[in-house]
Amino acid sequence: MSVKLFEPIKLRDVEVKNRIFVSPMCQYSAVDGVPTDWHMVHLGTRAVGGAGLVMAEASGVVPAGRISPSCTGIWGDQHVDAWRPIVEFIKGQGATASIQLAHAGRKASHVPSWEGGALIPEDEPTGWKPFAPSDLPFDEDYAIPQALTVDEIHHLTDAFGAAAERSLAAGFEVIELHFAHGYLAHEFLSPISNRREDEYGGSLENRARFALETTAKVREVIPDHLPLLVRISASEYVHGGWDLEQSIQLCKWLKDIGVDMIDASSGGNSPAQIMELYPGYQVPFAAAIREKVGIATGAVGLITEVRQAEQILADGEADVVLLARELLRNPYWPLTAAHELGHDIKWPLQYTRAKPE
Ligand SMILES: Cc1cc2nc3c(=O)[nH]c(=O)nc-3n(C[C@H](O)[C@H](O)[C@H](O)COP(=O)(O)O)c2cc1C
Repeated sequence: MSVKLFEPIKLRDVEVKNRIFVSPMCQYSAVDGVPTDWHMVHLGTRAVGGAGLVMAEASGVVPAGRISPSCTGIWGDQHVDAWRPIVEFIKGQGATASIQLAHAGRKASHVPSWEGGALIPEDEPTGWKPFAPSDLPFDEDYAIPQALTVDEIHHLTDAFGAAAERSLAAGFEVIELHFAHGYLAHEFLSPISNRREDEYGGSLENRARFALETTAKVREVIPDHLPLLVRISASEYVHGGWDLEQSIQLCKWLKDIGVDMIDASSGGNSPAQIMELYPGYQVPFAAAIREKVGIATGAVGLITEVRQAEQILADGEADVVLLARELLRNPYWPLTAAHELGHDIKWPLQYTRAKPE
């Protein structure tokens, strides 16, 4: 029987060697948005470990779009120059190099999670004023964001386009747009964070406008042979908020614009969310979107077991799995998963002598 996890997947002209993707993970280890040796080792190790696609963390398309001052960015040539050798190393291991483009919206200007994640007030040297669709804070200990003007919204859409161009210049082959987890695009989508009365708020069409215009802009700069992925929060688990039904409509529109895969995550836009965590808790979102929209999906969230991951693909619930924390615990998970499933996989030459018989 063929092993689904190790079946290559073709996204436009990009063939990814297997269906194990490294989920994007902020490392809070950049300087002025520039990735460092840490990113080379962190992302490089997961490429060595056999993942098919290695996705670099949420990277700000503008400085104010970072979650923290130590998040990566891609708003200047200095970022392109620093990402390039990291991308080359990832590709040198036979993995596909990907980057997640992001704007943190009203959740920007915080210290890294391991320092407690507190707000950095805008009057501190390392802080800044966060922007959002409306001047509603995420929570009590978050800043009141500044509502974006229409001109500023257009500027940010252009910034996503420019960031996509820079990503390609750095050698990334797969771009993912971060529209999830209560960051800027999600804030526009959700009626609980978007109270605008202009063409960017109100109806679903209006709330989706920023996401759709940004996607169209990015799709325009990416050549036809390269794919575009979008991560969404398929539900925000709040009554009257963003939900699966709206997500399905959004994904239909995204598909029409030329998005190739939906990375189905959830939550993050409200402290009132009631979210139940269990193995594969977000898989039903990937399955529903795949079925109702007819688009490839990625499943993510508490996927840790080899047979669990294989079953998700075998059952047709998703086309790929994205693993985050499990790949922090064990970057060689793909290599050992292949062994467990009886699939012969090439180990890095340097490590061949460790390959199980
Ligand atoms: C350290 C860390 C950083 C993360 N940073 C990002 C990020 O940059 N972008 C994103 O979309 N999700 C981010 N996430 C969420 C993960 O990509 C993933 O969706 C989540 O951890 C659930 O998957 P898991 O159960 O395999 O860890 C992060 C998660 C962790 C643990």
